[in-house]
Amino acid sequence: MSEHLTVVDHPLVQHKLTLMRDKNTSTAGFRRLLREITQLLAYEITREMPLTMASVETPMEEMEAPILAGKKLALVSILRAGNGMLDGVLELIPSARVGFVGLYRDEETLKPVQYYFKAPEGLQDRLVIAVDPMLATGNSSAAAIDLLKQAGANNIRFLCLLAAPEGVARMKEAHPDVPIVTASLDRQLNEKGYIMPGLGDAGDRMFGTK
Ligand code: URA
Repeated sequence: MSEHLTVVDHPLVQHKLTLMRDKNTSTAGFRRLLREITQLLAYEITREMPLTMASVETPMEEMEAPILAGKKLALVSILRAGNGMLDGVLELIPSARVGFVGLYRDEETLKPVQYYFKAPEGLQDRLVIAVDPMLATGNSSAAAIDLLKQAGANNIRFLCLLAAPEGVARMKEAHPDVPIVTASLDRQLNEKGYIMPGLGDAGDRMFGTK
């Protein structure tokens, strides 16, 4: 991927995103829409996965046909909101390995604090897709990518639903080698670090917490 930031402007993505932004959308609806959009975004972020040829026998004859090459992709959820994006990608790529990074945001400093890290083996040989719906300050995303790089990952992409310009800039400064795919680049962060106009707290909305 040559671009650092790709905004997927497909009409289905944009329509579903508008429904997700609506404060009256139910928890069940929010979750379903997030899964659906994630699949459409995953289609874009995996576009350049390498292929190799394998022989397959159709009912008619044998042929050489393309299949994915190399080790299985690693999907890494940045807890907890990233979990809302896992199922969508796993439906498309059921053999993906899955890791988790637990970071919470200190509400005063807005800085990330790590509480959990578990990644699949052989990260250095895999395409690693980190998922988190909201790229806000970019502090926790950059810290999560730091941890993945320390664990050996060298081919990482970041998949999110919404991005703030501040978060994109922070990621570009910390990890210029990590392409970002999102459904929207929103206007700005507010003083509490929420994306404006955004959709509120993604974790609360998908899990029904407050
Ligand atoms: N996390 C969220 O869930 N929402 C925001 O707007 C920013 C960070």
